[in-house]
Amino acid sequence: MSCSEIQNYMNFVLPLVLDSGKELLTVEEINPEIKGGNIWDVVTIYDRKIEQILIEKIKEEYPEHKFIGEEESADKNTISQLTSLPTWIIDPIDGTANFVKRMPLTCISVGLTINKEQVLGIVYNPYAKELFTAIRGQGAYLNGKKITTSGLTEMNKSIFNYEISLGVKNLQLRNLYMSRLQGLITKVSGIRSYGCAALGLCYVACGRVDVYQCDGLYPWDAAAGTLIVTEAGGFVTDSSAVRLGKEFDLMQPNFLAASTKQLGDQYIAIEKMVDQEVTSKPQANFIPSNCKLITEKTQ
Ligand SMILES: *[C@@H]1O[C@H](CO)[C@@H](O)[C@H](O)[C@H]1NC(C)=O
Repeated sequence: MSCSEIQNYMNFVLPLVLDSGKELLTVEEINPEIKGGNIWDVVTIYDRKIEQILIEKIKEEYPEHKFIGEEESADKNTISQLTSLPTWIIDPIDGTANFVKRMPLTCISVGLTINKEQVLGIVYNPYAKELFTAIRGQGAYLNGKKITTSGLTEMNKSIFNYEISLGVKNLQLRNLYMSRLQGLITKVSGIRSYGCAALGLCYVACGRVDVYQCDGLYPWDAAAGTLIVTEAGGFVTDSSAVRLGKEFDLMQPNFLAASTKQLGDQYIAIEKMVDQEVTSKPQANFIPSNCKLITEKTQ
């Protein structure tokens, strides 16, 4: 595939995404539904509407293309396998819980893979009028201006966006997140948690935060944003307990995205240490040892 071919895809899809963003801005009443009884998983009619419009229009133009979408996958109750055909990976509203609460940290995320390789990413936050884009090998852009990560290498100056809400799913994840946080909190400069994966990644890409980590996501949360990070000169690696520090897998996206590999490696080294501590203990409500000390002292 050639670069101009991907540029043509970008030229076709970008206006559709911008139009969807305009549509979001006109929304007055939002009635969230809870998906599959999972309190952390909300959806609105706007998620469905935007995804349907994007898929329909792209299909009309490129009938041979494939799609992996958040709502489309929910309807089928399965996520399609990635094939070598051009595949659009779409999150119509990323950060739906923010959207429902009218927190302007929400966006439309559209990624494209060809031959299973991420080649195009669009993340649009219509509230902030911020459009992040990337084409493989061509750099990353915010509203048409080239962006790069902060380039930071010192952990003690780094701002860390850590998404731990998914810890609600099970005790094992909770223990993992809590102990990693315990290990990192005194070594970094600040902690954030924005509740929007695609924007979290883009904020690393443009240097607003230095590291972003979130485990247990779906391909549509990461397909555009991880490409935007690497095209901005950043580093993306797997953050799951079993594959920590290994190659990022788009179809099972657990990621640590960092301004530089040097900084990312320092985070991974600390997490490897605390992970060992967690997994070597029986899985009750695990409290890291130094945390226990504080509790005991205050009692
Ligand atoms: C931050 O870390 C660097 C080494 O990476 C060290 O030289 C510096 O003194 C540290 N700064 C603070 C305030 O601890």
